[in-house]
Amino acid sequence: MQRTLISETAKKTGEKVELFGWIDSIRDHGKITFIDLRDATGIVQCVGEALDKVSVESVVSISGTVVERPENLINPNLETGKFEIKIEKMEIVSRAAELPIPIGGDGADIDEGLRLKYRYLDLRRPRMAKNLRLRSKVTTFIRNWLTKKDFVEIETPILTKTTPEGARDFIVPSRLQPGNFYALPQSPQQYKQLLMVAGFEKYFQIARCFRDEDPRADRAYGEFSQLDLEMSFVEQEDILRLTEDLFSDLVAEVFPEKKISSSPWPRISHKEAKEKYGSDRPDLRKDKNDKDELAFAWIVDFPLFTEQSKEDFYHGSGASRWAPSHHMFTAPRPEDIALLDKDPGKVRGLQHDLVLNGYEVGGGSVRIHDAEIQKKVFDLIGFSEKQKEEFAHMLTAFKYGVPPHGGIAPGLDRFLMVVLGESSVRETIAYPMTAGGTTAVMDAPSEATPDQLKELGITVRGK
Ligand code: AMO
Repeated sequence: MQRTLISETAKKTGEKVELFGWIDSIRDHGKITFIDLRDATGIVQCVGEALDKVSVESVVSISGTVVERPENLINPNLETGKFEIKIEKMEIVSRAAELPIPIGGDGADIDEGLRLKYRYLDLRRPRMAKNLRLRSKVTTFIRNWLTKKDFVEIETPILTKTTPEGARDFIVPSRLQPGNFYALPQSPQQYKQLLMVAGFEKYFQIARCFRDEDPRADRAYGEFSQLDLEMSFVEQEDILRLTEDLFSDLVAEVFPEKKISSSPWPRISHKEAKEKYGSDRPDLRKDKNDKDELAFAWIVDFPLFTEQSKEDFYHGSGASRWAPSHHMFTAPRPEDIALLDKDPGKVRGLQHDLVLNGYEVGGGSVRIHDAEIQKKVFDLIGFSEKQKEEFAHMLTAFKYGVPPHGGIAPGLDRFLMVVLGESSVRETIAYPMTAGGTTAVMDAPSEATPDQLKELGITVRGK
């Protein structure tokens, strides 16, 4: 017999079916036993007599007949609550040992390290399963929406050179060139700009970004995902409008219970945000107790540079008062270009931050496409000749016909955290790292073998 999915049983009253799944719960009433069977599509009650002893979470197959329940036994809380499966045969496919963590509740009171060690069990938790399914709906929606608007999805390298966004790089040793290292990208920033030079005009990618920075509730350690996008021949207005349309349609389709506070989304200058709300990511919800309110806002007109103390440094240079407030490819407002020489602190950038319920869920900008201005920014942030050399490919590329371009990168995990009302981005990621920087389930990082180190030309000096 062919497998029937639990969601299909509703259409099969009176028919014989064979179901496969996990035992969600067992209620043993002596002679007769009730089993709630779960598969990826739902849960259904099965009833049988003289069944073999079996533990919860074991995988079984159940053959039986779908029968209607008597009126007084209907369970209105289950989609399949109007009927049950009369078990004719149950086979145990794989017995489950006692679980190291409970998976019934929301898991909030379980040590997170333990949840991550047994993440494959933790993901059986209905809340976590729902989060990952919604995440998939969100990425599918985004892909379809952007593709319909002629965006091209393009993957960019993971083993690459530094693309700083203000965090430390992860580096990977090269075997073919011992003593040299790849850096994992903190974002696809440079590659996406180079795709504009290549003439694609509209690019997007659900991109993995790697940053070695201290984790927080809204910041995953190590890696996270962005919806990275870039467009040519656009102004800031076009980028804001496209993002606003995309996220408004996304919320309406995937989260119809959510209400966006105001449309069009408010646009607030960085100065006004600081003065009026004391924050560059203000929470503009009208009712902060309403879990279904989404208050999007744009923060614009950031200063292009932030002033830093002598002890601070940008990307290890230690050389300048000025650090980019977004990143070093953000364009100054055209009317402020003259100030670059006179008063860099007064220059405003064409940066836009996307804010949602008090979180920064996205950042982007119109980019510099003039090699001279880019060089000036490198000088202002105190780049040494060697550091400039590391980004020489950008200036070279700009020599061969570069369109004006700009884009944005909403953080997927953080957006989901806010929309799903979760307390941490880790609740939206299948296998996040622990706060201590070890991977879920598998214990990385781990030691390399002496042979691997020898091949890489690396000696470990001790820990
Ligand atoms: P930025 O560094 O502002 O911009 O990052 C964009 C968005 O990514 C999310 N984000 C994170 N989410 C989870 N964990 C993290 N550690 C983490 N770090 C960042 C945030 C943030 O707003 N290349 C530019 C984009 C551009 O200019 O187009 C960039 O990466 O939601």
